[in-house]
Amino acid sequence: MIRIARRALMALSLVAAGPAMAQQFPSRTITIIVPFAAGGPTDTVSRLVAEAMGRDLGQTVVVENAGGAGGTIGSQRVAQARPDGYTLLLHHIGMATTPSLYRRLAYDPVGGFEPVGLITEVPMTLVAKKDFPANTLAEAITVIRRERENLNYANAGIGAASHLCGLLLMKAVDAPMTTVPFRGTGPAMQEILTGRIDLMCDQTTNTTEQINSNALKVFSVTTEARIPALPNVPTSAEAGLPAFQVSVWHGLYAPKGTPAPVVQRLSQALQVALRDEKLVARFGELGTAPVAQDRATPEAHRAFWQADIAKWRPIIQAAGQYAD
Ligand code: MLT
Repeated sequence: MIRIARRALMALSLVAAGPAMAQQFPSRTITIIVPFAAGGPTDTVSRLVAEAMGRDLGQTVVVENAGGAGGTIGSQRVAQARPDGYTLLLHHIGMATTPSLYRRLAYDPVGGFEPVGLITEVPMTLVAKKDFPANTLAEAITVIRRERENLNYANAGIGAASHLCGLLLMKAVDAPMTTVPFRGTGPAMQEILTGRIDLMCDQTTNTTEQINSNALKVFSVTTEARIPALPNVPTSAEAGLPAFQVSVWHGLYAPKGTPAPVVQRLSQALQVALRDEKLVARFGELGTAPVAQDRATPEAHRAFWQADIAKWRPIIQAAGQYAD
């Protein structure tokens, strides 16, 4: 009896602490968990966002990498973190595919999170090691169809953007390659630069500088129109493969149960961050742009996320390609 009363009191005091907690928020360092390795595209976006949000929040926002299993390891950490706004997740399109790709997870990939706001939609590029024996997408397709599993294709695990993009490519050219998974495309990039990996489809936030310094070959950008950061790179449609189109949306999440005023404060800081001159300029150099301000809200993020889950579910079910 006494124990039940004590528990009830504790629950009541936590609820009562909500508004006060929100008023003081944030009073210490915030951690953004990136569910992929350091040096990759999600990490790059996260560090720019963390720095700019920190300026608005008046607190340090640090980035911690927890890569592996296509982003599910880092996501689990956040879903199970204390819902106080001090542990956040910055993740991409994988938040929409994981609920269908993984049938057994130790956390709830949808109900475990509060969306805070959308961040950016990043184009992808098909890149190859410098001495890959092709100079155009048409030539690359000929090599892929001839060499098939002799070619190594890198990705960041099942559910990663590089995985989805690779599936799209292999379906479009109707030839499989040998897939080599990494904890993120940051480490995969090192392997393609040394020539141990042949091909990779990766976000411009990880490839633009390598492409512009001729460290890699590039065959197409997966957007409808060419992008200013890579003006000489043809779109997939121009290069003869119109079905090869994909962009990678990113969003910020708090654990389920985070008080609404805290989520609102974080969203407000995100909206300010996405207008930060330094961030906008760097996003532009890396081939992307922040979303419009009204998309960096919990409501817009939730609606977009739910629609994308519904879009991917039948595609994944029809392909029958599950991660577990
Ligand atoms: C991906 O393929 O999902 C990303 O490139 C992951 C990452 O940020 O490394």
